[in-house]
Formats: sequence, structure tokens, C-alpha cells
Amino acid sequence: MCGIVGYVGEKQAQDVVIEGLRRLEYRGYDSAGVALVADGALATEKRAGKLANLEKAIADRPLPPATTGIGHTRWATHGAPNDPNAHPHAGAGRRVALVHNGIIENFAELRSELETAGHHLLSETDTEVAAHLLELEVDSGADLTQAMLAVVGRLEGAFTLVAVDAQDPSRVVAARRNSPLVVGIGEGENFLGSDVSAFIEHTREALELGQDQVVTITRDGVSVVGFDGTPAVGRRYHVDWDLSAAEKDGHDWFMRKEIYEQPRAVADSLLGRRTPDGHLHLDEMRLSDQELRDVDKIIIIACGTSFYAGMVAKYALEHWTRVPVEVELASEFRYRDPILDYSTLVVAISQSGETADTLQAIRHARTQRSKVLAICNTNGSTIPRESDAVIYTHAGPEIGVASTKGFLTQLVACYLLALYLAQVKGTRYGDEIDQVMGQLEEMPRHIEQVLAADQAVYELAREHVDTRSVLFLGRHAGYPVALEGALKLKELAYIHAEGFAAGELKHGPIALVEGGLPVFCVVPPQGRDQLRDKMVSGIQEVRARGARTICLVEEGDDAITPYADVVIRLPKVPVLLQPLVAVVPLQLFACELATVMGHDVDQPRNLAKSVTVE
Ligand code: M6R
Repeated sequence: MCGIVGYVGEKQAQDVVIEGLRRLEYRGYDSAGVALVADGALATEKRAGKLANLEKAIADRPLPPATTGIGHTRWATHGAPNDPNAHPHAGAGRRVALVHNGIIENFAELRSELETAGHHLLSETDTEVAAHLLELEVDSGADLTQAMLAVVGRLEGAFTLVAVDAQDPSRVVAARRNSPLVVGIGEGENFLGSDVSAFIEHTREALELGQDQVVTITRDGVSVVGFDGTPAVGRRYHVDWDLSAAEKDGHDWFMRKEIYEQPRAVADSLLGRRTPDGHLHLDEMRLSDQELRDVDKIIIIACGTSFYAGMVAKYALEHWTRVPVEVELASEFRYRDPILDYSTLVVAISQSGETADTLQAIRHARTQRSKVLAICNTNGSTIPRESDAVIYTHAGPEIGVASTKGFLTQLVACYLLALYLAQVKGTRYGDEIDQVMGQLEEMPRHIEQVLAADQAVYELAREHVDTRSVLFLGRHAGYPVALEGALKLKELAYIHAEGFAAGELKHGPIALVEGGLPVFCVVPPQGRDQLRDKMVSGIQEVRARGARTICLVEEGDDAITPYADVVIRLPKVPVLLQPLVAVVPLQLFACELATVMGHDVDQPRNLAKSVTVE
């Protein structure tokens, strides 16, 4: 939620900041703005709507040259997405400019204090309050770093704040509490960003910050202190992907590019997981074998697509380890007072590593002495940092708001975790684990095969441009796939879409079926015949009521053909791994349908890539 950029160096700050905002726009696109420090004054511009509106405003009324600046792209929380509420916000005398991600919970109280003291606030935001407070501090003689330390002590809630002072072009100062911020380390220049894509064009050296820290960047250095003023050191790391990963590479959408990257992303997520003697080895598994042997219950917490990855993980974990698994929406978890202790392993799945609901859930779990293992795609993000162990997914940056390669690589990480636990607990023989690893290593090739049939799926999508409702049915590991297919369609095409466990259909949802209703059916592989046959009955039931059945069926399964209006062929794979191939046509379908409907596929309405507020 909200993208933030800060820069100090030798280049034109406006160019660096706008380019950074372009790469962060997926985090929020309700408005955008910049503030530069030029000749002892602030030069600012901000506009409601997408970044393009800001760029047009700057083209019409150019900002002065400057080498220090900040920028913001907003996902609105307090106040409508209009020009006055867009960031940056300035203090009363327009000396300090500030951008903010998060929510300042005590802003009403602070606002009334400022108004009583004669301050006139121009927006409805919580952010402007912080800008006024910061300016009061610098006006009374503090430098911007000291001022920030004084102000954060007065704020409650979650925030990243980044500020500049018109009278001190040498520095940009930021504060972080429960909201993302990373530092980019350059030569004669330094950067701040909500994530590394903000500055990847300029440097791949980054510094991870902890919670409750204030960072000051100048041309020549970076200094970090805790909110109590004590010096702190961040963890420095090298970003292992480059600018090309953050570009569309000839595709119309990042999402489409990311769908086609899935074979590679899956292969990368499997790399280096086996020792020469054939044992599974997970680098970032910081839990000892004894701690894992003590695990007698697993609770998976996640949101959205990551939650559906968790649902698939339950089948694999229970099957291979015989440990009971619960899967829970992170936003609900701590409010039900879950039963946790030291022998419960909590697995938090998050592509971004910043989802506030998931973060709060893991904090709750750790207070109950449970160990937390994160499955995450973002190095340097908060969730892995606050977890006891982590499995990174190696999907590369996922920029499309709708998760695709993030999902597939989360599935891979879940399978790896399940197999690793089975190895440590001895619930599967080594040769069985070896066999599944071999099957997993075949999956990139199978995904390629599904992608090679993309044109038929695109054609199908174009036939559905006037469709207002779509159902998805699945069983077993195909049930979360149905849910994910429906979520993709809701997010991108803005139409009614629902996923159901096929067996549940007759208990109510079948009433939705009417003539011509498209129903996607994820058919379990042959060999799981009971499961598959029951699915076939479900397909017959909806078809008998006039539904148009679109069946995702493994090759060679011709028994389904009489009941399918459309057949999408899937490669032959084991039932537990089928989600890795079955979800791909559903992603292609949603991407293409949204495209022909004229929607912005990468930045769907009302959404943001990383949801950093609860
Ligand atoms: O970054 P996370 O995996 O924690 O994000 C969780 C959800 O917000 C995310 O999966 C969301 O549902 C996506 N937009 C789905 O495409």
C-alpha cells in the first residue's frame, strides 16, 4: 500500500523519483506526487489518479532542477483520492515535505492539538499532521533527523515517513514502524524505497532496516538509529535480480509476462535443494531437526492467493508427514484466540512479506511460544525478518497486482517443506522423497506444455467478454485451484466468480446454475478414481441444468469428453502436484478476458500489491 521513494545524489532527483514511482505504482495508484529541494525552497507537484497525471502536470509546469527529492504513489486510507489529499504534505511554512505509508492512529487528537494552536490543515489525511509536527521541530532548531526522532515518539500506529527540509538539501530522513522501507546504496548517491524496485535501475546494493528505526541518507552515507536515538546497523544485501526483471519484456502486461515466467520461477525455486547424497536441504531452515520433530500441529496463515497456496499445502503436509494442519485467514487468526504452544509450527505464506494481517498473526503466534516459518518471495521484507525460519521462493519480482508466479512458487515451497518435514520426522522413505523431487523437477516442462496451448484459452476468454458470472469447481487439491481461478477473475475482470468444492455444490450453490453459465471444472487425475468419478458426477449435475462446462482434464482422460462443452488438456502429473499446471489456464483466461474488457490488468481498481494496513 503506497509506494515511497527518496533520493539524494548528483542526478536530477525528479527523474530518479518519477522513475522509482513508476516501478512502485503497483503498490497504489490513487494519486502521486513529488517534492524537491531547490534553492532553499520546496518545489512540489501532486495529482489524483495514476502517475501519468502527475507526469503531465510536471510537463505543463516544469519543476526546477534539484538533486534531493521524495515521491509517493498512494493507496488511499484517510480521505478521498483527490489532489489535496495526495502526498507529499508540507508543514505550515512549507519548509518540510513528507510522504507516508501506513496509518497514524492518534491523528485526530494530534490534529485538534495543532488546530487549537492555530495550524490550518489543507487535507483530510493523517499524514499532514506529521508534516506540521516535523516542521515545528526543525523551526525550533533541530536538524531533520532529530526532528524525526522527536515526532515518531508522538505517533501511534504503523508508518513509514520520508521527509525533506527545504533548508537542508544534504539529507533525506525516514522513519519506519511496521511498514516497509529499504535503503539503496549507491556511489555518491543513496536511495530510499518501499522496495528495491524503486532504485534497482541505479544500484543492486540494499540495506534492510529494522522496526522502529530512523535512517538518514546523504550523498556519502547512510546512518541508522533506533527510535530511542541509539545507533543501529541494518543488514546489507545484494539484490539478485536486475532491471530487466522489472520490465515488461515485450508483453502488454507484467501479469502476462509473469505467467510465462512460471516454468523458470518454479525451476529456480527448486534449485540447490538437494545435497550430493540426495538429501533435501533448505538453506534458510533455521529450525533444528529436534524442533521439527517436536512439531505436532501446523497452522498455516496467509491472505488471498497465498491462503489458497496454504490450502494446497495442507493436502501435501498431511499426506507426507501425518501432522494435522489447519489453514487460516491471517486476518481472522488472532481474534479467535487460537490454541498454540511450542510444538505448534506456524507457517506464514506471503509473496510480499509485508502483509499487515499476516505480520500481526505471526507476532501473535510468537508471543504464544510457537515457532514461525515464513514462505516469502521478498528478501529484506518484514515477515521473514520476524520469523524463526524462512523458505524463499525465488520467483523474482512480481509486479502485476494479481499474483501468478508468486502462487506457483509458494506451492513449490510448500511441497519442499512437506517433504523436508517428512525426511526429518521419518514419515516417508528417502526413495519416496526422491521420487517426488524428481516429479517436481519435471513440473517446469509440464507448465511449458500448458503455456504452449495459450491461444485456445485466449480464444475462449474472448468468447466470454459479455459474461457476468462464472463458477469454478474442484475437489481435493483442485478445490483451492477453483478458488484461485475465481479470485483472478474477480480481481481482473470485475465479474461475479465463485469457486466451490464440487461435492458441496448440491448443498446450495447449484441454485446459481442457469442456461449458458460457464462452469470451469478442475478434474482430478486418473488413478484417484473415486475422486475423479465424483467430480464427473458434479459436472453432469451442472450440465443437466444448462451450464456450459469447461473441463480441465489430464491428457488421455476421454471419459470426460461427453460431459464437457470445452476441454482444456493438462499434462499427466500426480494429484498433489496438479495445482501447478491446473491454475495456469485459469490465469491466462482471466488475463485475456480483462484485457479484452479494456481493464488495467496490472493495476486493477481498488487494489494494491502489498496490503500493509489491517
Ligand atoms: O503478499 P501476500 O502474499 O501476503 O499477499 C496476499 C494477498 O494480498 C494477495 O495474494 C492478493 O490476494 C493478490 N492480489 C491475489 O492475486
